[in-house]
Amino acid sequence: MMDESTRKWLAEQARAFEKSGLAEQAPRLQESGIAEQIREADSLKHKVEELRDVADHARLAAQALTLSNELAKSAQLASEVAQVTDNLRQLEQLRVHNLGRSAALTEMKRTIQRLPVEVRPEVGGTTNRATRELEQVISARAEQITAEEREVQLREDTVDVTLPGMPFPKGHLHPSMRVMDDVVDFFVGLGYRLAEGPEVETDYYNFTALNIPPEHPARSEHDTFFLDEGLVLRTHTSPVQIRTMLAQEPPVYVVCPGRTYRRDSDPTHTPMFHQIEGLAVDRGLTLGHLKGTLAAMARHVFGEELKVRLRPGYFQFTEPSVEMDLSCFVCGGNDPNCKLCKGAGWLEMLGAGMVDPAVLEEVGYDPEEYTGFAFGMGPDRMAMVKYGIPDLRLFFEGDLRFLRQF
Ligand code: DAH
Repeated sequence: MMDESTRKWLAEQARAFEKSGLAEQAPRLQESGIAEQIREADSLKHKVEELRDVADHARLAAQALTLSNELAKSAQLASEVAQVTDNLRQLEQLRVHNLGRSAALTEMKRTIQRLPVEVRPEVGGTTNRATRELEQVISARAEQITAEEREVQLREDTVDVTLPGMPFPKGHLHPSMRVMDDVVDFFVGLGYRLAEGPEVETDYYNFTALNIPPEHPARSEHDTFFLDEGLVLRTHTSPVQIRTMLAQEPPVYVVCPGRTYRRDSDPTHTPMFHQIEGLAVDRGLTLGHLKGTLAAMARHVFGEELKVRLRPGYFQFTEPSVEMDLSCFVCGGNDPNCKLCKGAGWLEMLGAGMVDPAVLEEVGYDPEEYTGFAFGMGPDRMAMVKYGIPDLRLFFEGDLRFLRQF
């Protein structure tokens, strides 16, 4: 068994190490302390077993008292080792060897019945006290270790909420989207409903129902992307007119923004571009309503300064047909060599007209009862005019330096 001074030394070393923070050395010390204490606790068990065989009353009493004191000391040593342990597994080892079912202390308590009556209170008191104290130390230490581990875990998991966040780049609306939103807002304000249709369209909706039969030369103007049999990438948003009229009875007031496609590429044409279609069908609609509506729309989008003009046009699905132009924002009509308007002074903005009776008939509307007007405009081109952008291809290159300006 370890003597008093060794035990003190061991405990002091342990405390010193704990304080010094030389954590890497502490485990070695603990290991040796534990091993020593456990060896002692186990060896005391043999003494308790031997005690049962002692026949002489007086000797039994004396040995029992001595042994219970040794057990108490051993438990005391176990407490000290427990206090410097920082490992839950080691604490459990101490508990099993000192307080477990086959530990010496436990064995001694079981043996009390066979001891001379006069020593029982003292032996019982000593062993019970030792048991209780060691139990308390071990469970207190276990709680401490758990708390410390949690503390460390929390410190490791800490998030520094004062660190600057990830910068979140601000997006910009594409200029075409700005114009589309603006135009759609205007028409919704007039009571028009938003309608949309597929970008992959059937030949029937894109052409035939709009009064452009197969083999008609008007088709060639559309530079169509043909897909599988009978399918095309829609060359305009006009097929949404047909879809809308087939789906409802008049009156109809819809505005239909969307992407459209043509085999075309130069400063004012890109293979993908946008259109906004509009359609109104009701009793008594005239070209006057069309003109008033589109002029109000142009004033809403461009302000009062830009001039607007209507001139005769031609579309298969309207009769009569018109085109609406905006005055050129680059030269104002004063430069015969202007790159944008090519000297014309005007920029084509939209096509429109009174819905051809043949189209109304095709969708089952009575052209004697109803008339309608329709229009199709290019928000990309309108954005060029509005923001003074000379090349349409800039719109679809995705260059952030361009987009950040809007
Ligand atoms: N769909 C025609 C185009 O892409 C534009 C257009 C013209 C639409 C007249 C219409 C319209 O609704 O009435 O060129």
